[in-house]
Amino acid sequence: MTTGPCSLIDSHGRVLRDLRVSLTDRCNFRCLYCLPETEAAQNFYRGHWGQMPESKPILQQWVPKSSLLSFEEIERAVRVAVDLGIQKIRLTGGEPLLRHDVERLVERLAAIPGILDLAMTTNGFLFPQKARALRQAGLRRLSFSLDSLDRENFRKITGRNGLAAVLESIDLAQQLGFQPVKVNAVIIRGLNDHELEALAEFGRDQQLAMRFIEFMPLDSARAWLKELVVPGRELLERLQRRFSLRPVAEPNPSSTAKRWAFNEGSGEIGIIAPVSEPFCGHCNRIRLTADGKVRTCLFSVIEHDLRSLLRKGASDEQIGKWLEGVVYQKEARHHIGEADFVPASRSMSCIGG
Ligand code: GTP
Ligand code: 5AD
Ligand code: SF4
Repeated sequence: MTTGPCSLIDSHGRVLRDLRVSLTDRCNFRCLYCLPETEAAQNFYRGHWGQMPESKPILQQWVPKSSLLSFEEIERAVRVAVDLGIQKIRLTGGEPLLRHDVERLVERLAAIPGILDLAMTTNGFLFPQKARALRQAGLRRLSFSLDSLDRENFRKITGRNGLAAVLESIDLAQQLGFQPVKVNAVIIRGLNDHELEALAEFGRDQQLAMRFIEFMPLDSARAWLKELVVPGRELLERLQRRFSLRPVAEPNPSSTAKRWAFNEGSGEIGIIAPVSEPFCGHCNRIRLTADGKVRTCLFSVIEHDLRSLLRKGASDEQIGKWLEGVVYQKEARHHIGEADFVPASRSMSCIGG
């Protein structure tokens, strides 16, 4: 991985190898850290803010169907990017399994020479219906979201009574040979931080790669608060108090997670700490939204309109040159927690994780 020529290089010298493609901005969950629209989510934030924050929520206007990139357009964009040096594709959402016939897209992408890694991030709710088709189509790696092992807390966090379905999906993914199966838990103080050890234990017992993620200001209500972030260091200290862990070497310098293995038992833990220990210096990711905008950072405040280019009849070569110019402008880093922080122009459900 990360060898071979690549002309996608930014002005800070970072070589971009990882393209994350959002297939839809819609979701069948309403996670409190992403689309906090439920009563439970609003109550949670009100408890911290006194009321919902003054700062404007992001007006969630769902992308109209006509603006969604078609599978043909996505495939073309990916081909061009792969020709320039992209090697890793992750399909995201919203919830990517809401996109009709998603396995047909996976099949087309899996056939593109030069893609070394094809993965998906899903909330898992619809996975059992699609699991076999996705596997057959050539999907190899999966990340699920699972923020709680408690039925009621799961419902409070996601807005959906879906714990049993997601647990079944994770199990099924392992049975079908997806490898590794990663599980993402965004840990929020006062919401699910008391479940940290139980989630780690679950990962160990089920032989999963369980990853604990710091809460980032990407929710559509712009209700994020620094006090709600549990710093990666605190997460690790707590886990080390409970389990005997050893560090796992990570061959990919652009990886988001610091990895740990259990000395007793299998499974693995990852700590993803973008707020307290930013990893922007090694970032090799760009993103394509469901409506065909290229975002060079999760926190970009401007987007680059690939859809128009695709629909105006630009050649592959023209698109390639354009993309090289776009990625050159990639932001150095995020400014979370700093006085000059400007929230991203869209919430996580439009950008993909
Ligand atoms: P692979 O290496 O493809 O397995 O992905 P990963 O281990 O980086 O994990 P994944 O892509 O699932 O990302 C996990 C979580 O890390 C996301 O859901 C985000 O919360 C966070 N994350 C991923 N990429 C970035 C990034 O570029 N910047 C920041 N700040 N956070 C990120
Ligand atoms: N902060 C951190 N991670 C987030 N995700 C979504 N919203 C946030 C946020 N505000 C992550 C979740 C989910 C993935 C799609 O994105 O882990 O699994
Ligand atoms: Fe890359 Fe932006 Fe994420 Fe930093 S915040 S790691 S620059 S995408």
